Amino acid sequence: MADTAASFREERRALWRRRAYETPLEVLNPAWASAFRDDAHWPFFARLRAEDPVHWTPDSNYGAFWSITRYDDIMAVDTNHQVFSSAQGIGLPPKASVLPPDAKLEESTEAAAPSFIGMDPPLHDIQRKTVSPVVAPANLANMAPQIRERAGAILDSLPIGDPFDWVDLVSKELTTMTLATLFDFPFEERRKLTFWSDAMTTAPGVGPVATYAERRAALADCKAYFVRLWNERVNAEPRGDLISMLAHGPQTRACSMEEFFANVTLLIIGGNDTTRNTLSGSVYALNVFPDQNLKLRAEPALIPAMVSETIRWQTPLAHMSRTATQDYDFQGRRIREGDRVVMWYVSGNRDEAAIEDPDAYLIDRPRPRQHLSFGYGIHRCVGNRLAELQLTIIWEEILKRFPEIRVLEEPRRSYSIFIKGYEEMKVLIPRRI
Ligand code: HEM
Repeated sequence: MADTAASFREERRALWRRRAYETPLEVLNPAWASAFRDDAHWPFFARLRAEDPVHWTPDSNYGAFWSITRYDDIMAVDTNHQVFSSAQGIGLPPKASVLPPDAKLEESTEAAAPSFIGMDPPLHDIQRKTVSPVVAPANLANMAPQIRERAGAILDSLPIGDPFDWVDLVSKELTTMTLATLFDFPFEERRKLTFWSDAMTTAPGVGPVATYAERRAALADCKAYFVRLWNERVNAEPRGDLISMLAHGPQTRACSMEEFFANVTLLIIGGNDTTRNTLSGSVYALNVFPDQNLKLRAEPALIPAMVSETIRWQTPLAHMSRTATQDYDFQGRRIREGDRVVMWYVSGNRDEAAIEDPDAYLIDRPRPRQHLSFGYGIHRCVGNRLAELQLTIIWEEILKRFPEIRVLEEPRRSYSIFIKGYEEMKVLIPRRI
């Protein structure tokens, strides 16, 4: 049975490899959700880095777009927000013609009202400044003991000797708990956050909602819930949670409920899927590279470096996109005003010109934080230290408890060109230390 699954997987990967190398370059399209789900997107990017690093795809399910695939070029685009704007959104929305009839285009991937990730200066900078204190070092130091206690409780409740889904019982639980702490969200209802996040980031039929109508209903519930929390907090003394900060911040307290909700969804998604998929990715990678697992267990001081290496190797967000504000010559190609430009972090992080032996997972790299997974420039991830903190703490707690976490079969990966993650990963913990 396991052999059949493995050979089916290899067949799929071979198929994608042929498509990546046999499609004429002029029409090559690297944006296939099913290739990402099959973990078979790599050859598209290897070819583009080598043959056409600033590449134009004239048509696809996401329309026409440029692909930037080399590390240094991604840095150049990411740090030039005057030419490469975020104001038209940071995803790659599907074309209207490929959406099912019950979908409205504006709700396909991006919130109707933009959050600050989808803004340019000066608005972006003002709103970012309002939420930054919640993830500043002082606040993180305050949160650390609670994250540790909650991480310990999650690990202590895991079954020993029986298979279980690591994604559900650990990755989702840890990141949802942290998010509930950030928002000061009613703790016993925290799984609502997981549900809303999944409903927002997965296509209907793939994740927890079956139709676009169901997704609309889920978002309406989510919005009503957060508006209620806003109303409670705006009338109370300012506190250190995110909702209170937005409700009292001089630059955000007058915002519309649409704008508030857009920033809430940004934080729900930003704080949830990415860290969750890194945690699952770390368990998976340490199984695929058992020598690194031994190294980690022999030297727990490597945990922070292992966390950074996982964030690079996993690249939880495969890309971010921008829109050109003017005609612009870049690496010998002419990008036109209004063109969509996709920075494929997933490719830049495997660029052999920037990172030595990039496909290898090496937890003691000399510069482990040298990667593109958090982006660069003015939009660089505001929660990056919080993500690293959560992952470091849970691994410190894991090493105290379990000598082994065995991945039992290939994980089920996300069907997405944006969220690079895991839907399910069966593991077994044979015994406690
Ligand atoms: C491993 C975990 C994470 C990864 C890989 C990640 C990745 C990213 C990336 C690539 C961006 C840049 C977007 C762009 O350039 O357009 C970003 C921005 C952002 N992230 Fe994260 N993120 C992670 C964790 C978090 C956490 C835990 C939070 C919540 C507290 C968060 C909140 C945000 C916010 C609010 C922004 C927007 C920043 C801005 O536009 O100025 N992220 N993230």
